[in-house]
Amino acid sequence: MNICSIRGAITIEENTKENIIKNAEILLNEIIEKNGINKEDIINIIFSATKDITKAYPAIATRNMGITDCAIMCMQEMDIEFSLPMCIRVMITVNLDIKKQDIKHIYLKGAKKLRPDIALKNTGFAVAIDGPAGSGKSTVSKIICKELNFIYVDTGAMFRTITLYCLQNDIDCNNKDEVTKELKNINISLDFENGIQQIYLNNENVTDKIRTQEIAKNASIIAQIPSVREKLLNMQRKIAKDSNVIMDGRDIGTNVLPNANVKIYLDADIDERAKRRCEELSLKNEKFEYDKVRQGIIDRDNADKNREIVPLKKADNAITINTTNLSIYEVSDYIIKIIKENIK
Ligand code: DC
Repeated sequence: MNICSIRGAITIEENTKENIIKNAEILLNEIIEKNGINKEDIINIIFSATKDITKAYPAIATRNMGITDCAIMCMQEMDIEFSLPMCIRVMITVNLDIKKQDIKHIYLKGAKKLRPDIALKNTGFAVAIDGPAGSGKSTVSKIICKELNFIYVDTGAMFRTITLYCLQNDIDCNNKDEVTKELKNINISLDFENGIQQIYLNNENVTDKIRTQEIAKNASIIAQIPSVREKLLNMQRKIAKDSNVIMDGRDIGTNVLPNANVKIYLDADIDERAKRRCEELSLKNEKFEYDKVRQGIIDRDNADKNREIVPLKKADNAITINTTNLSIYEVSDYIIKIIKENIK
């Protein structure tokens, strides 16, 4: 015997006996079908329902489906603040020859919001996060990706990597032709460890090496070169096509992923952004002067916002969040809420 437990949930439209039974049947049938279960092999079924479901036990659905010889139980859900209304959950224990990682848990209708990581698997769901340096993009993107099992694509790192190559090889970042000629020698590849991006320059992992102030400064110059942007655009779009992503940068909502499911524009006051950058530098034991860090950010903002080619700009349909007085968890929870609201 190989015993396994399979989970699922569905929301119902109205608190009527008919609707409760109909939806419980939809849920059970989907679990049975997607996991190739024989009804005779079901050992037990535990249902739970939110407090607002009062007209029937979902378990009646099992009788209608001819599942009669297993233990069945219905319970009331805990009433948690912000919990999803009108929701039926189920856990089926079954004798099934299947590997744990191949089990398909099923979340339907409004219940998809409970497990976006499962409901959105392989659907190419894209979240675009744009904003100026230090607005909190990468910190919150990483938190959200862990929670939702998305991959985090840091496009700034790609521009930084090309910059690193130029600095290492004495190529003038201001010389468009020289940089363009070198692009064929620059191979950038990405790898995702637990959803977090590692970036390689000609097979060398440069994820940490690109985090210097000199590279940041020159990256905003490199980012103005059309051939550089074109090379990276193709990579960025391909990654988003294949996976669920949170992609952060300057032109994601406006240019890279104009059809992203969710677009966010993060911003924060300049002093707050400078303070955050200084905290990062001091954690890395790097020397810095507050005024220089602050001015560096202002200069990069100007370069990114005023360049001719896809400047940093809020997409028309992006939601702006000013993070000046918010903690990283307040921002990430808010974005997760927006993502859940956009799950169809
Ligand atoms: O986010 P960051 O500091 O790592 O980005 C480095 C530079 O790259 C930034 O000054 C602007 C540029 N960039 C861009 O032009 N477009 C993007 N999508 C991401 C970054």
